[in-house]
Parts: sequence; structure tokens; C-alpha cells
Amino acid sequence: MSQMPDVNMTRMKRQGSEDVVPCPTTQALPKLPVPPLQQTLEGYLKVVRPLVSDDEYEQTKRKVEEFGKPGGDGEMLQEKLLEYAQTKVNWVYDWWMDDMYLTARLPLVINSSPGMVFPKQIFTEPSDQLRFAARLISGIMDYKVILDARALPIDYARGQLAGQPLCMEQYYRLFSSYRVPGLTRDMLVSPDSSVMPEPEHIIVVCKNQFFVLDVIINFKRLSEADLFNQLKRIMQAATAGDRCEPVGLLTAGDRTEWAKARIKLMEDSTNRDSLDMIERCIFVLCMDEGVCCDKTDLTLACQMLHGNGSHSNTPNRWFDKTMQDGASGGDDTTCQEKNDVPLARQMLHGDGSYSNTANRWFDKTMQFIVADDGACGLVYEHSPSEGVAVVQLVEHLLNYIRVNPWNDVCQRDSPAIPHACHSSQKYGSKKMLRAQSICELPYPRRLRWKLSPEVFHYLKTSRESVDRSIANMDLHIMRYTRFGKSFPKSQNMSPDGFVQLALQLTYFKLHKRLVSTYESASTRRFQLGRVDNIRAASIEAHNWVRAMCSDTVEDYDRMELFKKALKAQRNFTLQALKGQGIDCHLLGLKEMAAMIDMPMPDIFTDEPFDLTNKFVLSTSQVPTTMDAFMCYGPVVNNGYGACYNPHDDYILFCLSSFKDCGDSDSEMFTIALRQALDDMQHLCLKVNHPPSPVMDLRKVDINGDSKMANGLDGHQLGLPMFPCGMARENNPTRKQNSRDDDDTARGPIVDGAMAQT
Ligand code: COA
Repeated sequence: MSQMPDVNMTRMKRQGSEDVVPCPTTQALPKLPVPPLQQTLEGYLKVVRPLVSDDEYEQTKRKVEEFGKPGGDGEMLQEKLLEYAQTKVNWVYDWWMDDMYLTARLPLVINSSPGMVFPKQIFTEPSDQLRFAARLISGIMDYKVILDARALPIDYARGQLAGQPLCMEQYYRLFSSYRVPGLTRDMLVSPDSSVMPEPEHIIVVCKNQFFVLDVIINFKRLSEADLFNQLKRIMQAATAGDRCEPVGLLTAGDRTEWAKARIKLMEDSTNRDSLDMIERCIFVLCMDEGVCCDKTDLTLACQMLHGNGSHSNTPNRWFDKTMQDGASGGDDTTCQEKNDVPLARQMLHGDGSYSNTANRWFDKTMQFIVADDGACGLVYEHSPSEGVAVVQLVEHLLNYIRVNPWNDVCQRDSPAIPHACHSSQKYGSKKMLRAQSICELPYPRRLRWKLSPEVFHYLKTSRESVDRSIANMDLHIMRYTRFGKSFPKSQNMSPDGFVQLALQLTYFKLHKRLVSTYESASTRRFQLGRVDNIRAASIEAHNWVRAMCSDTVEDYDRMELFKKALKAQRNFTLQALKGQGIDCHLLGLKEMAAMIDMPMPDIFTDEPFDLTNKFVLSTSQVPTTMDAFMCYGPVVNNGYGACYNPHDDYILFCLSSFKDCGDSDSEMFTIALRQALDDMQHLCLKVNHPPSPVMDLRKVDINGDSKMANGLDGHQLGLPMFPCGMARENNPTRKQNSRDDDDTARGPIVDGAMAQT
């Protein structure tokens, strides 16, 4: 396909590891290390072991030994990688971005972009949606002031390896990034401030139509009253507008198809202008129609929110509630879980082209969603940052709205609320000070499109494919209320390890085998660090889940095996957090082989290598302090997405799978998971008296001076192992289909996680 020069890109700059100059605090962090070759190869064999038959394992072992032998390909590639790493801020960053995101061709919707559900609001009149949206915009701009001043306080690791400073770069990408579709590879870009002034507009999408809303005019931020009035104008224009093609659906399709459609769109100057405004905007605000506003939901939501109280103060109460305030378990919890699902669907994918999916522009990093029934949340394009940055923004936002109740907006001639100016005053940004009401604001501009027959064709295929995927999505939410993270802590166990092993036990109970598992571990202790993989499907986990499912193993022995599995999990975690993870290293060695154009070593063409990179369980801890939660889709056809949010006294799980795969079922998974957690608690209470310490490694330092951190051999301690051979025919991860093929090319996709690391 012929491609004209992309004039819009002259106003953008690429966001690669070498295109961004890290700030001094980032530069003060250590560089991501290149792990020792033999350590990674040993780790890789441990990962392969529980997933393949004895014969397959032996074959793989031979290939790994050949690769790692003195003077072999492995040593040569390792040497080149070490040299290469010296020349880079973060040696794996660009390879990882390509592998994880930019070369993936699957649609962003469901396959990559996580959704986040905020507490549902009670809207009693149509203008409430506008009031809330005005306050939301104001809160986001308040946060942006801090970002623009690069004044976010440095995060320090909590939990494991606590106390170390973390890289903050990904926070600063939230409102400056845009993902441009490419024919073979997408590009992450940001507005080039040396060419154009910084953007001062957002895009509001309403009834599938796109409007430019200037949120800064004459160097002043718009007041909520002005935002409210401008949103009202947008709403009126959208309702009165001519029939509009759902152009946003183009961004919901296959990336290559969308890249082709964009090239066609760019041939017309009207489209170029519209695309330019969207690509350079600060964020997108989606004014949705409610998808779950049936009476039962609303009544239940009201009941749970405010009991018999009056409506007047309800909209903000929800923010303070913990799950137990509103639903103390049992039936209430089930009802709440049922209400959570349509909310999660709306945020994750918009619920279909005839609902809100066309009311989006999926390439934009941050899209906030406010529906007319009080549902609200966001969907974000994952490549610029991990969920941690998004969660921190959301908590700032929800707190801002709690302190400055949205139902005040435009109820009186509201003078600037002191809190609302807080960040502008604190960080001395005159431009971001909120203005008093500006008279005669120009009407927000509706973006126009000229669609050729070819673009109509792309629109049609994109609509069909996204509707198919949405119909195929099986999403379940479980609020597990029997205990939260306090219980594992009381047992001297890591809550994260506890949950990860519960997921392993669940999968084993349902499928009688373990599968390749991804859990994101932050590598933000290093410059431009993102994540590496904690692989929970360990040999020790395999031994333990078999014991749990066997009638002949005593509880005491189960507990011993459980502790070994927790230790192995902790070792993988520490290894990844310390920049010693195997996934990034193997990716680096493979990319180096491609870079120097040598024949690909057998270790990387071996079937188990492919198998270990098909993450049937794609998991992530995304903790929040408020009752907001994240959700995402599976990354392989027969897989599960499992996002969990551990609170002190309950754990929220979002489980997703695809209906057309006969091998997975989100509802069955949640039932089995509940049982697994119950069983584990029962086991602990029965035989872990008094709770004995299970390797609390919170104090291990980054150099790994602790014995355990260096040892990485938890699985070798103790009881005999169960045999772990597994028949290949029974392994559905081998199932070949188009989605699997794509996934192989893409490698791991991390969910949307976000942990306070
Ligand atoms: N006994 C008692 N308490 C323990 C314990 C033990 N053996 N082990 C841990 N704990 C405590 C921790 O101190 C911590 O306490 P806090 O709640 O007071 O902070 C708490 O239990 C949680 O620790 P743990 O469950 O072990 O996990 P963690 O919070 O350290 O998180 C990871 C582990 C891997 C999830 C985290 O380090 C991480 O990397 N998160 C980022 C993930 C990410 O970036 N995802 C992005 C995807 S988009």
C-alpha cells in the first residue's frame, strides 16, 4: 500500500528509550542489569519442567545445555548483550515494548487495554452527568498540574524489597502519549513541544461524535461552571447532529487494518485535521449511554449506597465505602458482583458497536468514561505505562471529587473552590489556575470526517470483529469476603504469593495440570523499568496442588508443600524485582541473535519455548485503596485474565475468558477459586499453629545480599517431589488457532496492573 508522508507526525516525537531524556531522579537509579547466563538457563528449565512431558523436558534440556556450553551461542550472545546494555539507558526497553505491545496486531480492545471501574454515581437528573464530568475534568487537570511541574513525590517500594526509590517516568506519559497504528508495528508518540505549543484541548465523544473542548483558554483553566456549559453545548449538538458514522470503531480493529484505514483517511485534509486534534489532545472524555440502567440494578445500587437516606448527599458517599459497608457478604455480595459485571464490560470494551464501543478512540492513552446512568471509569492504552500510574491518578481524582462534591457544580454561581486550585497554587502554574467564568466562550468544535468507500469497508470489518469479540467475552467478578490480605499476613505469608497459589490450585482443580502463568513484577527500581514476569507455575506449586487434590496426603504434608511453593513463588518474585527475571533476559538474547543476523538458536525455536510464552493464566495484582477496580481480557484463546485487588478484609477478582473456547469458563473458575481460597484458609487454621515464618524477605536489599535472594533454590529444599510428566495431547495450550498464532508473535501481554510497589 502506498503511503504518503504522514504530515501529522511532524508535530509528534517518538517515545523510545533513547528519545526521552530521563530526569535527574531517574538517572540516579541503577541501570537494569543483564542477569548471568547460567542463572537464566537454569531458571528457564525450572519453568519448562512442570509444563511438559519427561521426554520433551529431556530434549529441551539438551538444547539449553548446547546453547549454554562454554564457547557456545549463549556465551557469545551474552557478551554482545552486555556490550549493548552499556550503550542504553535500559537495554530491554525497546525490545520489550515491541514484543509486548507495538508489534502486536490484535485489536487493543479486550486484548491489551485494561478497563477500570470507578464507584457508580447516583444521577437523578440528566444534567448530573455533565456536573460530574465537569468536576472530573477539573480533577484531571489538577493532577496534570503536578505532572507538568514534574513534581510527583518519588514512589518507594512497599512490600517486597521495601524502601527502594522507583522510576517515575511512566507517570509522566499518561497525558502526553498516543499510539499510532502501523502496518507492521505501531509507534508510541507524544506532541513535539519544539514544533507546536502544548495541547490545551481534550476530545469529548458523545453519541459517536468527536468534539474539541478547549480546557485552557487565554492561559487559564476553565472553571467547572464553564466546563459544564461547554459540555451542555456538546450534548445538545450531538443530539441535534446529523447521522454520524461511528469512526471511532476503526481504532477497535486489527492494528494493520486500522493502519491501512488511517492511511486512506489521511488523504483528505478534513480527516487529517480531525486526526491531528485527537492525536494531540490531553485525553478523551466519553459521554456514554448507560448499559445497565434497568430498574433492578438502580434500585439495588441505591439501596446499597444509601439505604433509606435521602438522595441529596448520596453521590459522594460511595467513595468512602469499603465493600463491607455496603455488602456484608452472602446475597448482597452476589448482587454487587452482578452489578459490577456490566460496569466492567462498559469500561473494558463499551459493550458493542450499538452501545458505546464507537464512543471511544482506543489509541489515546487515557479515556475517561461517564455514562448517563452514573457508571464511570476509564479505559487506557497500555503501552505507555503500567496500571500503577493509572491507579495513582484515579485515587487523586476520586479524592478530589470526594473533597469537592460534584453536585455543587453549577448549582450556584460557584466561585473557585479552594481545593480545586490546590495544585496550581502549590506548583505555581499560572496557566493552570482556574478562571472565573469566561463569557462568550467559543462553541466546542465538532470534528468532521470524509469517508471514502474503502474506509467504509474498514469500518464495517472493524465493527464486525469487535462485536464478535465482545460477544465472545466471558467476564466474572468475585468479591471474596471470607478474608483479605490480613489473613495471609497473620500466617506470616505473603498475600500476593497466597493469591497466586490459589490461582494455581484453581486451575489445577479444573484442568488437572498447570499452565504457563504471567504475573507482572515491577522493575521500576531501575532506570525506565517496566515489568518482568513472576512465573507462579513452579515445580513446587505443582507438587503442592497435587497434594491438595489427593485424598492420601495428610494436612501436615500439604502445609509443608504449601510453604515450599510459597518460597519458590517468593524467589521468582525477588528475582524479577531485582532485574534478574528470565523473561526479559531470554527476550534480549533472542533479539540479539536477530540483530546480528545469526541463525536462530534451537532454544528459541523449540516448542516448549513457545509454550512457556503462551500465558494461559495472565495475572496481575492491582491494588487500590478505594472501591475502584481494574479488569482486562485473556491473552490467549484458551486463557484467563485474572486481575485481583487485595484489600485488608476482602479480595476482588476480575476473571475473564473467551466463550468460544470450550476449555475455559470464567464462572467455573470463580467458583473453584472461592473453594480454593476456603480450603487454603482451612488448611492454615488447622495445621499452621502457631504461624511459622514463611520467608519474609521484605528487608532483602537490591544487591541480593540475603541468603535466600541469592539461593533461588526453594524447590530443592525438602520433601520428595511428585512426578510431573504431562501428556502433550491433553495440553490445550497447543491448540492452534489464529489467535494463538498471533499471541506467539506477540509474546506476553501484561494486564493492567497496578500495584503500590
Ligand atoms: N508475613 C507477613 N506479611 C508479609 C509477608 C510475610 N511473610 N510477606 C509480605 N507481607 C506483607 C508486606 O509487607 C506487605 O505489607 P503492606 O500491605 O503493609 O505493604 C503486604 O504483605 C503485601 O506484600 P505481598 O503480598 O508480598 O506483595 P507486594 O505488595 O510486595 O507485591 C508484587 C508483590 C510482585 C505484586 C509487587 O512487588 C509488584 O511488582 N507489583 C507491580 C506489578 C505491576 O507493575 N504490574 C503492572 C501490570 S500493568
